[in-house]
Amino acid sequence: MIRTQILGLGSYVPDRIVTNDELTFLDEKHIRQDTVQTETNDAWIQQRTGIKARRYVPIGEGVATSDLALEAAKHALADAGLEAKDIDCIILGTLSPDIHFPGTAVFLQKKLGISSQGCACFDIRQQCSGFVYGMQMADAFIRTGMYKRILLVGAELHSHSLDFTTRGRDVTVLFGDGAGAMILGPMESEDPRSGVMYTAAHADGNGAMDLYLKIFEIAKAPYVNYDARDRDENSTKYPQMDGKRVFLNAVRGMVMATNTALAKTGLTWDDITWFVPHQANLRINEKVAEVAKIPAEKVLNSIEFYGNTTAATVPLTIDHWRKAGKVKRGDRILSAVFGSGFTWGAAIFTL
Ligand code: COA
Repeated sequence: MIRTQILGLGSYVPDRIVTNDELTFLDEKHIRQDTVQTETNDAWIQQRTGIKARRYVPIGEGVATSDLALEAAKHALADAGLEAKDIDCIILGTLSPDIHFPGTAVFLQKKLGISSQGCACFDIRQQCSGFVYGMQMADAFIRTGMYKRILLVGAELHSHSLDFTTRGRDVTVLFGDGAGAMILGPMESEDPRSGVMYTAAHADGNGAMDLYLKIFEIAKAPYVNYDARDRDENSTKYPQMDGKRVFLNAVRGMVMATNTALAKTGLTWDDITWFVPHQANLRINEKVAEVAKIPAEKVLNSIEFYGNTTAATVPLTIDHWRKAGKVKRGDRILSAVFGSGFTWGAAIFTL
């Protein structure tokens, strides 16, 4: 029968490394000031989140989310030994689209130089769960024979929409820019453990306003009500979060998704090479590993280098550790994710 295999993997992060200490002094154009702009510090950030640094795109060079996606896509295509023209479907997960509409996948398609071929382009808005949601879509499309070469990308440009004042510090310290991509295609196999073995996607809209970014409210006219001088009004430009509720639900959601994935597939940790959780907070991942009894040596994190890159964290983390020589082709990965929505899910696949 037709199953889905991963043909290629790639990732991209911008060159600029912003350490916790530097972030304290950055203004909204990411220019270092002499005085503290955001009252935070390296010890607090590391202790609560495990983050040491994150990457930011250069300001003023017109870099968009689709540019980050493009670089990750090029690496994934090269890894698969394919060219952009081979792609017949793009699925792009992001919470930081280039513009409100059209979706970012069409900008990526154009930058890949394949617009005239007219391949299908999907944008999905499942935030930190976007990559696993996208993998479930891609798997279903491939198993039914709908598409044969799917480019699945998670890409985020957070650094332009963060509040570089003490007001926004709970959120600003967490996020970074980056992208990760996979190419997925069909294979003939009777082995139920091969390729993409399992995917699950869930949501609970009760948590929708525990982590959100408004910018506008379509239910209101005028639907954008922004006054730079009004501190309360201009907060709609920035993400808002109830950190403690997100933390608790993230642990619960990822533990549940992980245990269900093992129960439904009949696998044990002996069958899994790596556990790759979403990278929101190292403390969340440590708690998940403890509660779900995941062998510590199987857990891969990359948050200390990149912060939270939402839809990009899963492929970025895998690629980071593949470049370091740890992850190899043929490894079986269990990934669990949780994000704004609330949304969560899990996937088990062989690289
Ligand atoms: N630097 C220094 N102090 C900070 C700070 C920062 N970046 N952010 C918040 N604080 C302060 C608060 O103002 C508060 O001060 P107070 O006690 O004087 O009022 C104190 O630290 C504790 O704040 P609190 O919000 O209770 O901290 P916390 O222990 O919940 O940690 C998070 C905050 C954001 C690290 C934590 O809640 C978290 O990681 N939540 C999950 C977030 C997440 O993963 N989001 C993405 C999900 S996909």
